[in-house]
Amino acid sequence: MDDPTPSRITRDGIRLFEAADFGGMHKAGRLTAEILDSIAPLVEPGRTTAEIDRAINDAVDAAGATSATIGYKGYQHASCISVNHVVCHGIPGDKRLKDGDILNVDVTVIVDGWYGDSSRMYVAGKLSRKAERLIQVTHDALMKGIEAVRPGNTFGDIGHAIQAYAEAHRMSIVRDFCGHGLGRVFHAPPNVLHYGRPGTGATLEEGMFFTIEPMVNLGRPETKVLADDWTAVTRDKSLSAQFEHSVGVTATGAEIFTLSPAGKFHPTWS
Ligand code: MF3
Ligand code: CO
Ligand code: CO
Repeated sequence: MDDPTPSRITRDGIRLFEAADFGGMHKAGRLTAEILDSIAPLVEPGRTTAEIDRAINDAVDAAGATSATIGYKGYQHASCISVNHVVCHGIPGDKRLKDGDILNVDVTVIVDGWYGDSSRMYVAGKLSRKAERLIQVTHDALMKGIEAVRPGNTFGDIGHAIQAYAEAHRMSIVRDFCGHGLGRVFHAPPNVLHYGRPGTGATLEEGMFFTIEPMVNLGRPETKVLADDWTAVTRDKSLSAQFEHSVGVTATGAEIFTLSPAGKFHPTWS
């Protein structure tokens, strides 16, 4: 059978998509962002993370889209919800949010075969000063990484920009999880590291699609996975934050597929 898209794969095993493929990613990314926008009012003290996940699942269904996470390696939910010292892959459940909790909600949907993957931070009730600082630095670190996306730069340039920014603010970058290529699959080469040295790693080329999703800890970078085989937490129990965008490399920089239509990517915005 002929592949409908001519595949071009770099020496590093990274797929180069066509100009027409950006439209598919844009649609998937926009739905992901709309769903993340829509749950903001639900994040409040007393709410359970299972209730938030249910709303996400309903929104995916209402859009006629598919959740990429339900059934992925046995995972059973439409989102990962990671509260406070949970770094990533938190499983939605019946625990109630408390005033001052910070949480990352990560959603991946499939629209017309294309994957949109994004996560952002939310706050239940009142944001503490130290959590606000962590969230701001994590958000800005992601944007520093995206600013390094352009043809001719390397993945090491992206990782370095993120790491240098977080460490300049005396916070640490999680090494145990990374971003990833995506497109018509959830996870593809390359591994997008959130640390690194300038000029190292594969060279960026127009048509690459991948996520950047730094996890930043207030304390040490080490993580451990709990007995449920999913939930990753900071070993020192320090607070952790994460933001994720799906991006495509254009001729001159990056197109962010998962921009918030409501301008609510960051919890203190609108
Ligand atoms: N969305 C996550 C990512 O950014 C992956 C979650 S996989 C799951 O790559 F199974 F835990 F949902
Ligand atoms: Co991802
Ligand atoms: Co994700």
